[in-house]
Amino acid sequence: MTDLRFDFIDPRHPLYEGELELRFRVLREPLGHAREDVKFPFENESLHLVAHAGGVVQGCVLFNPEDAHSGRLFQMAVLPSLQGKGLGAKLVRALEDELRKRGFRHVHLHARAPVVPFYERLGYAVYDEPFVEVGIPHRHMQRDL
Ligand SMILES: CC(C)(COP(=O)(O)OP(=O)(O)OC[C@H]1O[C@@H](n2cnc3c(N)ncnc32)[C@H](O)[C@@H]1OP(=O)(O)O)[C@@H](O)C(=O)NCCC(=O)NCCS
Repeated sequence: MTDLRFDFIDPRHPLYEGELELRFRVLREPLGHAREDVKFPFENESLHLVAHAGGVVQGCVLFNPEDAHSGRLFQMAVLPSLQGKGLGAKLVRALEDELRKRGFRHVHLHARAPVVPFYERLGYAVYDEPFVEVGIPHRHMQRDL
C-alpha cells in the first residue's frame, strides 16, 4: 500500500485538481450543488493541506488568513471510504502546527451541525447563534492555538 503523505499545496500544484474533485464529491455534490460552486473567492490566498497517496487526494483542509494572527478553517473533507479512521483529526492537527509556526493564534470555522462533535474533540468551542449556509444548519466554532 502506498504511504499517505501530507503536503501544503497551492492552486498551481498538480494535486490541486484532485483536491477540487474531493471537495466537490464530499462537500458539494451531496447537497446538489454544481461543480463550479466548489471554489471560494479567497482560494489563491488560502493554505491548502492535502493528504494523498499514489497521486490520489484522500483528505484536505483549507485555511484563509484574515489578519496576521487569525483566520478561518474551511473545506474540511475526507474520502468517504476513509472517514472515521483518524485522518480528519490528523489534518486539523497538522494544519494547526503549521499555523503556529507562521504566528497564527486563533482559528474560527463554520461547522455543519452534525460535525460539531468532531471539532469539539479537537478543542473547538461553539459561539453565537446557529445559522444556515449552503442550505444546511451550521454553528460558529473557534479555538486559540
Ligand atoms: C467530518 C470529517 C472531516 C471528519 O474526518 P474523519 O477522518 O472522518 O474523522 P476522524 O476519524 O479523524 O475523527 C476524529 C474524532 O471525531 C469523531 N467524529 C468524527 N466525525 C464525527 C461526527 N460527525 N460526529 C461525532 N463525532 C465525530 C470521531 O469519532 C473521532 O473521535 P475519537 O477521537 O474519540 O476517536 C469527515 O467525516 C468528512 O469528510 N465528512 C463529510 C464532510 C464534512 O461534513 N466536512 C465538515 C464540514 S464542516
